[in-house]
Amino acid sequence: MNTPIIVALDCPSTTAAWQLLDQLDPARCRVKIGKELFTRAGPTLVEAVVKRGFAVFLDLKFHDIPNTVAGACAAAADLGVWMLNVHAAGGLRMMQAAAERLAQLQQPPLLIAVTVLTSLSGEDLAQIGCPGTAAERVVQLAQLSQQAGLDGVVCSAQEAAVLRATLNPSAKLVTPGIRPLQTADDQQRVATPAAALQAGADYLVIGRPITAASDPLAALAAIETDIHSMITDS
Ligand code: C5P
Repeated sequence: MNTPIIVALDCPSTTAAWQLLDQLDPARCRVKIGKELFTRAGPTLVEAVVKRGFAVFLDLKFHDIPNTVAGACAAAADLGVWMLNVHAAGGLRMMQAAAERLAQLQQPPLLIAVTVLTSLSGEDLAQIGCPGTAAERVVQLAQLSQQAGLDGVVCSAQEAAVLRATLNPSAKLVTPGIRPLQTADDQQRVATPAAALQAGADYLVIGRPITAASDPLAALAAIETDIHSMITDS
């Protein structure tokens, strides 16, 4: 499966998640399970979604002492997930511990870092004692995650171009905030699927444009059409 599309399963219950999953095809999209659904449905749902054939990005953004995060990453990998993430702000040693633990596995999942949450403004960062702009901090933390041996970062499409120019070519860039039409919802830094890929994104996290559509499969098909030439050209 070669699709860059990751559908965010931001569902309030296991039932709602399966209603959506039943309409999706594992050959045409990957899925992301985040804190809300995981806290309600737990590892059992993750394993069942993997068993259904979906590549699962477990978006739990681990941030704790190195030993705890390494153990959590190993536990997530045991669920069979394709990708998982940690907060780069947990530091070099925390990220190294996670990467080293996963490297012991035969088929390790991709491990990526969240740099600066897109919900944080420069003012928010100043309040928690972080000097400089959000963009400067994103680049600094992305470089630190690369030094730690991680596979890539989550970033907005706006940051993808600068990170593509800064990081190793193999670094995976995962971009949320994707909007096929010019509807932003509560997202501030949005891009169309094609624009995000053009900027250097490898994977597109897409929630409401697919999950809130009356026909999720048709919405997915429209996005596939938008990016078709970019995937076949690359
Ligand atoms: O519905 P929408 O397309 O905005 O969903 C985007 C998904 O990506 C949500 O699951 C959200 O939590 C996630 N996300 C984000 N911004 C980040 C990291 C993750 O929007 N920086």
